[in-house]
Amino acid sequence: MNRNFALEFVRVTEAAALSSSRLMGRGDEKSADQAAVDAMRNALNSIEFDGKVVIGEGERDEAPMLYIGEKVGKGGSVRLDLALDPLEGTTICAKGLNNSISVIAIAEDGNFLHSPDCYMEKIAVGAEAKGAIDLNRSPTDNLKEIAKAKKCAVSDLTAIILDRPRHEGLIKEVRMSGARIWLIGDGDVSAAIAAATPGSGVDVLFGSGGAPEGVIAAAALRCLGGDFVGRLVLKKDDEITRARTMGIQDPKKIYKIDELAKGNVMFCATGVTQGTFLNGIRLFPGGAFSHSVVMRSETGTIRYIQTQHHFGKRSADVPH
Ligand code: FBP
Repeated sequence: MNRNFALEFVRVTEAAALSSSRLMGRGDEKSADQAAVDAMRNALNSIEFDGKVVIGEGERDEAPMLYIGEKVGKGGSVRLDLALDPLEGTTICAKGLNNSISVIAIAEDGNFLHSPDCYMEKIAVGAEAKGAIDLNRSPTDNLKEIAKAKKCAVSDLTAIILDRPRHEGLIKEVRMSGARIWLIGDGDVSAAIAAATPGSGVDVLFGSGGAPEGVIAAAALRCLGGDFVGRLVLKKDDEITRARTMGIQDPKKIYKIDELAKGNVMFCATGVTQGTFLNGIRLFPGGAFSHSVVMRSETGTIRYIQTQHHFGKRSADVPH
């Protein structure tokens, strides 16, 4: 995969972040999401490549989305699959809270799991704890293994967990283990990235969240050298049948990181609201600053890009 694409794709997440950030705190999740989708689609269609959305905003009949199977790009000989979320954390953005981002992960044809839009049980850790996580073990045992790998006590670890009633038992068990907990309202892609980022103060992500977000997070963690395991939550018969049509034969399979995102992957994200690892869009008269990260699994390069945009000079930068 040509490394120059990395910089092409960061323009895509910048455009989506700039556009949705105009609606920060306005209490309108749908409009913020739509603004991000429209800007991302326009930006993608200005790049010379033959792209296919494999993890997207929804099904074709839910258009105008960046739907699963949608073809994007100007065309050309380079075929790439995209796993994207134009606005990850719609509620966060609508409330003006921390950690909404615009994200896109890129892989060669067929290298992302074609995941249905269901929940996924997830555990994510950084490089030091690679290999120490297993969804067949209890959270307590996973914490013990992570602590062993990081040469610290369980009470030195911090787990990040979505604050949801379904996680009541998980939260209770992690508290009993002695580890610290950071409960978040939304945004488990940036939470997984935090777990794999040295110095973030987070050691592990536990809990279930969106399966599409799981594939995107796995791509990011491939670049960061971290580890991720996921198991789809498929309970009802119709969910299992639908998953089968997408090629998922074993509904209880535990996916390793490189079964979710294999081969060479790239990952780009731009902060929409202020966040732990990316600043949000900051406006100034006539323009805005954006803060993005671009990562590649092949080299492990992690590039932070701060961009100064001047509205009116480039149509793609002009927010609503
Ligand atoms: P959206 O950006 O689609 O609103 O997703 C936010 C999010 O918090 C994800 O990060 C997470 O994977 C999922 O929602 C969790 O789903 P739920 O809110 O149903 O628990």
